[in-house]
Amino acid sequence: MSTTKAIVLVGGPSKGTRMRPLTLDCPKPLLPIAGKPMVWHPISALAKVPGLSEIIIIGFYEDSVMSGFIKEAKREFPNIGISYLREYKALGTAGGLYHFRDSILRPPVPQNIFICNIDICSAFPFQEILELHSKHRGVGTIMGVNVKKESAQKYGCIVTEPESQLMVHYVEKPDSWISNTVNGGVYLFDKSLFDEIKVAMDQKTARAAEDPLVKSDDILRLEQDVIVPLAAAKKMYVYECKDFWRQIKTAASAVTANQLYLTRIQKTNADFLAKSSSNIISPVYIDSTATIDPTAKIGPNVAIGPGVQVGKGVRIKDAIVLENTVLDKHSCVLNSIVGSNCNIGPWARVDGNPEPEQDVKGQISVTILATEVSLAPETLVRSCIVLPNKSLSRNSANEVLL
Ligand code: GDD
Repeated sequence: MSTTKAIVLVGGPSKGTRMRPLTLDCPKPLLPIAGKPMVWHPISALAKVPGLSEIIIIGFYEDSVMSGFIKEAKREFPNIGISYLREYKALGTAGGLYHFRDSILRPPVPQNIFICNIDICSAFPFQEILELHSKHRGVGTIMGVNVKKESAQKYGCIVTEPESQLMVHYVEKPDSWISNTVNGGVYLFDKSLFDEIKVAMDQKTARAAEDPLVKSDDILRLEQDVIVPLAAAKKMYVYECKDFWRQIKTAASAVTANQLYLTRIQKTNADFLAKSSSNIISPVYIDSTATIDPTAKIGPNVAIGPGVQVGKGVRIKDAIVLENTVLDKHSCVLNSIVGSNCNIGPWARVDGNPEPEQDVKGQISVTILATEVSLAPETLVRSCIVLPNKSLSRNSANEVLL
């Protein structure tokens, strides 16, 4: 069996700004969704791919930010090499691949390399992609997903030849509509990808020598600089993903991702979740160190982190509650993310609207409480973003509370 490796692109601190205030304390890749850090979900799916020897996470976070996760992941997936390589600055979606090419290609030399974005929620059909990839002679296979026509231009758009699955055209975030099939942020490439990246880098250097407006640096974009020419040369194929897929760019989309992952875990690994009962409406994840009053009603689509205390008569639905938060008696949390070390007073209510299909400018959907926010008894907070360390005692709606 040929060797496969995988790269997970996690970006760095200047990315993930739309997830603030949650990412003020917790870097986006480590944000818990369905009881596990965001980056864990693609890694656990990759770990199931036969012949996969190594997963390399590439980003520009400090090493110390990722080291705890790497240690735990190595323990959980002992048969796979897992490491973090840090870019000295943001090198773009292909710059890091080029910079670390020797590490990626060192023995066992991979025949195939998966590349996966971090900020997506997906069923990650890696094995199916590998199967399709091994049937054609292209340099790469891209996972295509179908989105609504109104939102397609927010993504890389793909035109496919239906019979052969050959990608005939690719445009990154086009100005006008091209297709509803978009780049899902998952790829499988032959190792010859590195020849293509080298060509793209050389062309960029040559352009920079001629044109003072083109910067000579190590930044390279996988989509525009590598995939566009590969599509033009008819060297890439498309795996159409029919399973669930969402981008996780905003805190609201993290609530949706939580629901999608919990629903999936319910089918694949139900033991990880809390057992259904009259007061637990599945799917619900409750960390083993959380304390839950038996009269609290929880679910569906709830994830409760370590050390959380849930009091008498509390109601929680469609929500993520992060570690060491206290929900006092009869409080209610719906369509929200409650950050760590928050204190929600008795009879207080935190709620929001489900994520809209489209970003609606100026409108906040789910409520986000950052760390160490406290709510006085009976306070209502609806569709608000609340920054860290705030103490609220008046009702608020559709506000950013600084
Ligand atoms: N290591 C590293 N270095 N990772 C990066 C860098 C960088 O300089 N810049 C971005 N990333 C990572 C992000 O963390 C994310 O996982 C992925 O690369 C893509 O991020 P963006 O560059 O913000 O692109 P996007 O999310 O707007 O669009 C991309 O993903 C869509 C699917 O979610 C494109 O590939 C689109 O075509 C695609 O549809």
